[in-house]
Amino acid sequence: MTCASCAADLAADARFCSRCGTAVVVRPKGAEERKVVSVVFCDLAGSTEMSGALDPELLRTVLLRYYELMSGVIAANGGVVEKFIGDAVMAVFGLTETREDDARRALVAALGMTEAAAGFDAELRRDHGVRLRVRIGVHTGEVVALPDPGERQAFVSGEVVNITARLEQAAGPGEVLVSAAARSAAGAVTVADPRRVSLKGVAEPVEVFRLVDVPPADPERTRRFDVPFIGREADLAALDAAWRRVVDEGAARLLTLVGEPGIGKTRLVAEWLRRDTGSVVIGRCRPVGDGGTLTALAECVAPLVYEVERVASVEPALALLRRGLLRDGTPAPSLDATAAAVARLLAAVAGTRPVLLVIDDCQWAQPSLVAVLDRLLAGLGALPVLLVCVARPDLLDAFPDWETTWPSAETAVVGRLSAPDSARLAAHFADVSTHDTATTEWIVGQAGGNPLYLEQLVAAVEHDDATAGGLPLSLQALVAARIDRLGDAERATLRLGAVVDPDGDGFAAADLAALADGGDHDRALRELVRRKLVEPVADGRYRIANGITSQVAYRGLTKRRRGELHERYAEHLAARAASDALIGTHLAQAHRYQSAVGLPADTLRSRAFGHLDRAGAEALRRVDLPWALTLLEQAADLTTAGDPGRPECLQRLGEVHLTLGRHEQAREAFTTAAAEADRPVTAAHARLHLAMLRQDMAELDRVAAEEFDVFHAHGDDLGLSRVRCVLARSHQRRGEQGRALNVLEPALRHALAAAADREVANALGAIGLSLWHGPLPAARATEQCRALLAAHRDRGAVQATLGFALTMLHAIQARTAETAAALADAQEAMAAMSYAESRFFRPLLGALVAAHGADWDQARWQLREALSAASAVRADSLVRQTRLELARVHLAEDDTGAAGELVRGLTVDDSADLANLLGVAARVEPDPGRATELARRAVATARRTDSPADHGRALLDLAHTHARLGRPVPALSAARAAERRFAAKGHAVGSARARRMISELGGRPR
Ligand SMILES: Nc1ncnc2c1ncn2[C@@H]1O[C@H](COP(=O)(O)OP(=O)(O)O)[C@@H](O)[C@H]1O
Ligand SMILES: [Mg+2]
Repeated sequence: MTCASCAADLAADARFCSRCGTAVVVRPKGAEERKVVSVVFCDLAGSTEMSGALDPELLRTVLLRYYELMSGVIAANGGVVEKFIGDAVMAVFGLTETREDDARRALVAALGMTEAAAGFDAELRRDHGVRLRVRIGVHTGEVVALPDPGERQAFVSGEVVNITARLEQAAGPGEVLVSAAARSAAGAVTVADPRRVSLKGVAEPVEVFRLVDVPPADPERTRRFDVPFIGREADLAALDAAWRRVVDEGAARLLTLVGEPGIGKTRLVAEWLRRDTGSVVIGRCRPVGDGGTLTALAECVAPLVYEVERVASVEPALALLRRGLLRDGTPAPSLDATAAAVARLLAAVAGTRPVLLVIDDCQWAQPSLVAVLDRLLAGLGALPVLLVCVARPDLLDAFPDWETTWPSAETAVVGRLSAPDSARLAAHFADVSTHDTATTEWIVGQAGGNPLYLEQLVAAVEHDDATAGGLPLSLQALVAARIDRLGDAERATLRLGAVVDPDGDGFAAADLAALADGGDHDRALRELVRRKLVEPVADGRYRIANGITSQVAYRGLTKRRRGELHERYAEHLAARAASDALIGTHLAQAHRYQSAVGLPADTLRSRAFGHLDRAGAEALRRVDLPWALTLLEQAADLTTAGDPGRPECLQRLGEVHLTLGRHEQAREAFTTAAAEADRPVTAAHARLHLAMLRQDMAELDRVAAEEFDVFHAHGDDLGLSRVRCVLARSHQRRGEQGRALNVLEPALRHALAAAADREVANALGAIGLSLWHGPLPAARATEQCRALLAAHRDRGAVQATLGFALTMLHAIQARTAETAAALADAQEAMAAMSYAESRFFRPLLGALVAAHGADWDQARWQLREALSAASAVRADSLVRQTRLELARVHLAEDDTGAAGELVRGLTVDDSADLANLLGVAARVEPDPGRATELARRAVATARRTDSPADHGRALLDLAHTHARLGRPVPALSAARAAERRFAAKGHAVGSARARRMISELGGRPR
């Protein structure tokens, strides 16, 4: 251990530093981090032959030279040699310091090592007749890093190292074999010979490639500049304005464009230059170690040279630059001389036209470059030169007085893309538009307006790229490098933020204080805001700038630490009586991570289950189905057979699946619930639902009757409400609306007592249905419907279920305005629901209303939509009902062929639908005898119901059949009888149709 203050060595048990007296701070365990690193493993091929052929002393010299060569290449690329194992060298990139291009550096190093080895090999062959060849493997993956570098070795072991070593063994002499992860983490590299190899100790075959080349990482190569340019009008205008000012005023200016990595700075400038075809000159700074310190400037200046080559007074300056700057980007012979020569050159060009210089990625500028720029700006004051410097916000860490040094300087911030622009861009990035909207929305949300994040997320989703916990590795590296550069306090604060607010809803500094004692989170948050990693939202709250940053910050925490933090935060939430969902979610995370690292977590598991199950039950009660699904699935996943509460949870989960139209999942949940339930009521609910899923009405009635006793004995309101609804449905199918209403009244009462919104809506919907079809005159039925709706409209789906009946009651009375208003309300409510059935009922209602208004086209296409929705959820009775309605539309249009087609082979056994079917069948039947018989049976069947409208419709079918067969007298009397039925109900549309028929038959309406 060393002193944090003066770095003196400390005794193992020291509490104060013996040199400077500073108290020894024992770093908390939590300072361990998870990191994504790239490992290079290099070994000698055929080393036994070499050791046999060489004298031991010579061998030693050779091996030392080999180590030295390899270490040199590794260090030059920013890697750390972890250890020498026999003849093998292992290096790690990204352990002590995380850089966004660690993987790329590892690959460059690997190629460099093979080259260095090849050179050495040639030498050895010539001098000693032996060969030295290396095999190399490179892999990228997650490791746990200890804060104490002394303990590092032990921890970079594990799977990543294992895989890398195996890759090395699978490589041929002189070959570099890279994993898919290393390849995708490195960005644009050239590989060949993709193949799958089985590695010892690794379950699945691993995809590997032979590394061929690592081209320079220029944005044109690594990023997608091919997609259309989106938005950014204001930024383009700012660039235009700066340029105009330079041209107008004839004075040199500096414009600095600042923005986080990937926000679109380079693309913006490229687009601007492309549009404004002036002189296009771009230089680019690169991370340390890549080229001369002034290379960026050299790239800018080189294209200008030819313009002034013949100007004698510039000759000496050019000659000087050709010996240094223009040769290799170095400031030879001196910085001063180079700056003066560049100024001379620029002055000559600017004498003929305004000059634009763009230097990208200035955060990597060397101080010498900044010094030269400084001199240029000072020296060129009165010439039209615009220098545009593009940089990440880190620029200001490297050069704190960048913005204040030059009076003629201004800074523009390149900000995030708007959500609509992001969505448009995401669509362009996708080669195939296979994404569902949910995925696109998720991607846009995670990216937080950063185009590069968008690009990489889309690519990862599309190509199923190697990821670190769902994040593309290259993106993970980019963000991890930013986080790594933070101070300890800021990094810790950011990570706590990611724990408490994974979804970016916002958190307060006080929330973080609940997690970590001490630490000035306010200060750290301010600093994070300055660095654009966190942004303030309303009321002194904050949130992490985007989902990607939040995820990467979170993934830096060890699992043990995540577990601790989630548990502690759950306690904090529980003390403040937060919602079950929130507490449960954190407890579930705590459980997940604590059990992942082998800590006992059973109590956490059952507590998490309790909260999530309760929250899920509440969400189901309020009919918030997607939310209920999330919570209950999480809760159920925490349990195994025999856990208390599990059957009830599965039962609820089944109900959610069923209502969402996911029949398979529903069946599975109900079956398990029925098998595992120890409470009779739970088993009864599960059995009842399984019977519903089987769609055998007779069996359902029987099961409902059986379970009634169970529910009754246990006073289970929910169950009582459900069995009564089943019973009511069975009355309705027989056309006994009055009886249905009798059982629906208690069904509603029980549903209300159980506070179950879904059952309330069901019962009310069924009541509405019976009011619509039943004997009560439409005007009074409407009043009742209205009153019920007024009393219960706030409950979940009531507006949809009861609204359906109310709309129809208006429609049969031909009240156009009321119908339209009620239809709009009901359809809006249905559209807002996630019920699978609402996808059916919505077009059905539209169709029925259209049919009552004789808008047959509209009715037809809406029925087609309803039909496909009903078929999709395999709801047989709904399919039947829709086909009948569609047949009616064809009849109204005198297309008996199409109508006959639809009812052919259709069987129904319930009185209400049967009368309808027989009536249609009669009207399409060519044989007179059979047609009459069918029509009579339709009337007889309808008479057994208590529905005046059904009765009226059957009579009208009879009238049509008689008329078609040339029997006007019985036709007229049937039409008159129909008219009476419709009038009794107040069914204006039916009445009008009957009257039209009467007058067509030459009779006079009464
Ligand atoms: N306005 C935009 N329209 C279309 N694509 C964009 C836009 N801005 C950025 N991109 C794309 O996003 C990626 C990252 O942009 P880039 O300019 O390289 O970011 P930066 O230079 O800020 O790191 C690139 O592929 C780029 O083409
Ligand atoms: Mg860039």
